[in-house]
Amino acid sequence: MTSSESSGLRQIFLSKADVGQVEIDAVTRAVSSDWIAPLGPEVDAFEEEVAAYVGARRAVALSSGTAALHLLLIQAGATKGTTVPTSTLTFAATANAIAYTGATPHFVDAKPDGNIDPGLLIEAVDSLQADGHVVPAVVAVDIMGRCCDYPDFEEELNSRGVLLIADAAESMGASCDGRMAGSFGMGSAISFNGNKIMTTSGGGMLVTNSDEVADRARYLATQARQPVPWYEHTDVGYNYRLSNILAALGRAQLSRLDDMIARRREIRRTYEESLLPLGVRLLGESGTEGFQVENCWLTTIELPAEHPATPESFIAKLASQRIEARHLWKPMHLQPVFHGLEATLNGESERLFRQCVTIPSGSGLTDDDVNRVIAAINEVMA
Ligand SMILES: Cc1ncc(COP(=O)(O)O)c(C=O)c1O
Repeated sequence: MTSSESSGLRQIFLSKADVGQVEIDAVTRAVSSDWIAPLGPEVDAFEEEVAAYVGARRAVALSSGTAALHLLLIQAGATKGTTVPTSTLTFAATANAIAYTGATPHFVDAKPDGNIDPGLLIEAVDSLQADGHVVPAVVAVDIMGRCCDYPDFEEELNSRGVLLIADAAESMGASCDGRMAGSFGMGSAISFNGNKIMTTSGGGMLVTNSDEVADRARYLATQARQPVPWYEHTDVGYNYRLSNILAALGRAQLSRLDDMIARRREIRRTYEESLLPLGVRLLGESGTEGFQVENCWLTTIELPAEHPATPESFIAKLASQRIEARHLWKPMHLQPVFHGLEATLNGESERLFRQCVTIPSGSGLTDDDVNRVIAAINEVMA
């Protein structure tokens, strides 16, 4: 037992699921309704509600955000022999989904806010196409609850015949240029994993403005069953649909999403006021603008290069006080599993990986929890 455990300090998690009576009632309703079979009315309603929230025409509820990426990539034409540029600063799921299709990921570096660098992305696409690569699509990732600068590259990709897929796993409720995360490109993937801004414990949603993409995704996600009375299959399908019970949980979370985002924004604001004077930088927008457009999923601190604290020592120090902090994603071009793949780099993702940590940001944090985190960071930075 560590000294902090023996002192009875409550563990503060990075992004604990924020669930309560509303969620308990919703899951109970779904179980009592006898719709235990995977699909059912909660799934239909959840899809409609998410599509309306995002401002997209259609939504397809799936077992994960990774499944949504996979189904979008298949439909974009990603396959063996093609190349798909994507953000190097992301969670492995993005690059894995590209690998599932047989296509080769090409990693593109970041801007100082962690999102893909639009200029570098277009440079990568141009140079790949000039070298004879087939580039069916790009997967741009909204990091830490902040949309990519889509207006800076959406049209550029269109004019090059390259589809845009948005990995909006972390950005539900964020917006860019007056459009909600999830409404960009041929389609987006949202994650409802347990640590996300809203959760179904595990689950995801494919959102799109295309009926064709939504219908095909739904078909592929339900084992590609032909509409005949017996089991007939002309394609290899997947078992990727969300269950009716988890959709009920998702609907309850969605009804509270705006409040949960408001709380995350409030926490970010408190961090900003207390931590900026210590000489750290917070990733993303600050001030009113940032609080309006970001969902403030995980507040990320950039430690000053000249400060002796490293992410490792920072994380260890907070852990000794029962506070969880984590490294920012290790860039995909540095991951052993993707060793040797081509990348278009500017050094930014490696710098962010060396200097950044994410700190507790869950909407269930109390003011006392936030103050404990701030006090611990003050000790590290002293
Ligand atoms: C950027 C990013 N992409 C994709 C995923 C995959 O989502 P899921 O865990 O729902 O498959 C996640 C989160 O887990 C993520 O953070």
